[in-house]
Amino acid sequence: MRKGFFITLEGPEGSGKSTQMRWLARRLRTAGRRVVVLRDPGSTALGRALRRVLLHSEAELSPLAEALLFIGGRVALVDERIRPALAKGSVVLCDRFHDATVVYQGYAGRLDVAWLDAAGRAAIRGCLPHLTILLDVPPSVGFARLHRSHDRMERKARVYHRRVRRGYVRWAARNAKRIKVVDATQSAERVRGEVERVVLAKLQGHR
Ligand code: TMP
Repeated sequence: MRKGFFITLEGPEGSGKSTQMRWLARRLRTAGRRVVVLRDPGSTALGRALRRVLLHSEAELSPLAEALLFIGGRVALVDERIRPALAKGSVVLCDRFHDATVVYQGYAGRLDVAWLDAAGRAAIRGCLPHLTILLDVPPSVGFARLHRSHDRMERKARVYHRRVRRGYVRWAARNAKRIKVVDATQSAERVRGEVERVVLAKLQGHR
């Protein structure tokens, strides 16, 4: 049986993750892979409930409260969705994961990055992605692409979102073996080409 393969997509707001996820899932299915598409938070009952609180409620949440909720939701995501899919040999594509907490609540929210990384890893218990694609885009470009009302995280100050972008770039440099950076200011078609190249090359080496 083929081994499962775990891929996450990360990026600041308006980086085009959802479109790229959809295209990548289709490409991998065409190549004969079984693909499971997930998002964090979401994709479990707990994740959907937390998503409502974190993104669509009026609740006052400090970066620490946010971090613990995102991390708590991830425990269920790993147990209920990711591990079972990997055990069946599927490719798991997840829209955001552990790195988002390190970057949004750590680099941008000013919590201690090393502590958050450790707490987040304790929650996922070894279930780190084999490959992470960072769709890199500055807030000026990303926000210009969002033609809908903004959620709680998107409503944070522009300076917060500049720290998100810088945080992702620094975190990717510190995890260069796992996190591949793609310039997402390019056209969606060009980004698609790069994403597919990186993913297919990695999958080839993982049989
Ligand atoms: P998304 O559907 O655009 O990915 O929305 C998720 C939002 O939540 C986005 O603004 C990033 C943020 N987020 C965090 O702040 N920390 C996390 O750990 C995760 C997974 C997401």
